[in-house]
Amino acid sequence: MRFSPTITDLMTSPISAAHALVHHRVNTRPLLDVSQAAPSYPPPQVVIDAIAAAASDPSVATYAPQPGLPALRSAFATDLSNAYGGEVVADDVLITAGCNQAFCIVASALAGPGDNMLVQDPFYFNHGMWLDVEEIEGRRIPNDDGLIPNAEASAALIDERTTAIVLVSPGNPTGVSVPPERIAEFAALAKANDLALIIDETYRSFRPTDAPAHTLFDDPAWRDTVISLHSFSKDLAIPGYRVGAVVAGEPARLEALKILDCVAICAPPIGQIACIAGLEHATEWRREQAERVAIHQQRFESVMADRPGGFELVAAGAYFGWVRYPGTLATDDALRKLVVDHDVLAIPGTAFTEEDEHMLRISFANLDAEQIDRLGERLAEWST
Ligand SMILES: Cc1ncc(COP(=O)(O)O)c(C=O)c1O
Repeated sequence: MRFSPTITDLMTSPISAAHALVHHRVNTRPLLDVSQAAPSYPPPQVVIDAIAAAASDPSVATYAPQPGLPALRSAFATDLSNAYGGEVVADDVLITAGCNQAFCIVASALAGPGDNMLVQDPFYFNHGMWLDVEEIEGRRIPNDDGLIPNAEASAALIDERTTAIVLVSPGNPTGVSVPPERIAEFAALAKANDLALIIDETYRSFRPTDAPAHTLFDDPAWRDTVISLHSFSKDLAIPGYRVGAVVAGEPARLEALKILDCVAICAPPIGQIACIAGLEHATEWRREQAERVAIHQQRFESVMADRPGGFELVAAGAYFGWVRYPGTLATDDALRKLVVDHDVLAIPGTAFTEEDEHMLRISFANLDAEQIDRLGERLAEWST
């Protein structure tokens, strides 16, 4: 059997690669798994009840309408309009089997081999992998202080093969939220160059403020430029039910829908039903979880303030800490040492950066408060 060289050259998922390291462990104390960003809490009861009730309805086993269940498209449009203050209607929403799929179908609709997109630095590894699959170049946007991408400096990266600017806010792996004014600058740059502005908002509920994440939907012409991507995985703690969304104007949705038809046909109805229940009845629960994650972030920041073992917290937000490890080990070796000697499983920074910058992504949101303290103790062992 022969495989496509594009795929054989593709990096293996850093999540799977990290989990493979667990087999090298010798210690018996419990592993602290801060690798894959996964809610540490179950979905709201109202969501569990809705799934249980739906499971006995045979119609739920059929395909859903391709763009999504009308009730979910409508509930999500209302949720976004309330949160952002702008205008999003049900027709703008295309439901996908998760936000990763949302990105893939949008990126493939916008670009092909030899095209390029401007991307953040560091850049979410699954987006990077998909651009590699499609042979689309990701051009890294320079940062200002605080890992905020600089819109002005991005202009020089645009050429006739550029089709989109991709932002992730709050970011993965940094957790950094791009300020609304900066997002608006990127939208203006995209508009002036007839590009799409793709913005992945998977962690929008996990920001340090209730203010809207951006004001893009206030512009009545937003559909000409903006493609906003969403996930219900963290927001409702249902990553296994695979539901996300593309929010975009009709031309972008129709092109993306062609690809959705080939890869998933439709997002699973059971997950969509879970989302309807969550959006309609779990507003308070969602706020409570976001508060809980924010409290965990504070605890993580205070644990890291003493630089345990020489580890430096460079940025934190949403679910993530972006951490520089001490010493000169290559990241793969540092990662292995962390698992084998210290029983902490993180994701290597090299999954997100072009060079080895000696960074790790730590998903502190996976841990409870006591485990966060233990994480600090284990990092402190590093230099001993
Ligand atoms: C920025 C970002 N986008 C998308 C995803 C995937 O979301 P989903 O589970 O909805 O596919 C993740 C999950 O970690 C993420 O961090």
